[in-house]
Amino acid sequence: MAMYNDKVMDYFLHPHNVGEIENPDGIGVYGSPVCGDMMQITISVDKEKDVITDAKFKTFGCGSAIASSSMATDMIIGKTIDEALDISNKQIVDELGGLPAIKIHCSVLADHAIKSAIYDYAQKNGKTYKGLEGFDPDDDKDEAPDEDEKTQI
Ligand code: FES
Repeated sequence: MAMYNDKVMDYFLHPHNVGEIENPDGIGVYGSPVCGDMMQITISVDKEKDVITDAKFKTFGCGSAIASSSMATDMIIGKTIDEALDISNKQIVDELGGLPAIKIHCSVLADHAIKSAIYDYAQKNGKTYKGLEGFDPDDDKDEAPDEDEKTQI
């Protein structure tokens, strides 16, 4: 049986938003304590409207990490910062039609790197967001999948 569904395979083999934005408004880099893989997300933001106009990712990660980042960057482009912060890891996995339980931590990598990039943008521009309350870009506690995620296959 294949590990990934067709949608995940498509986003893995034909990823969207790969690369790095020059002079980004926010950059997030995160390494997974679970597998040691790395992710970088860069974002451009329309500062007046607080809308994410572009997002790109680079990763040393597996197919699940690539598909998740591809989907996650698609989901945040065009969204306000608040809307982007509202997107949960579970929503990213659901949009992909599910991931094997042992691969959920790879999608958390994308989610955390995006929040880190938004955190960087907020720090540089003196902004605060409800969705970033208590967020620490260096905190890796949220790498452990919760019970809901474990059953999300
Ligand atoms: S195994 Fe490391 S990101 Fe998937």
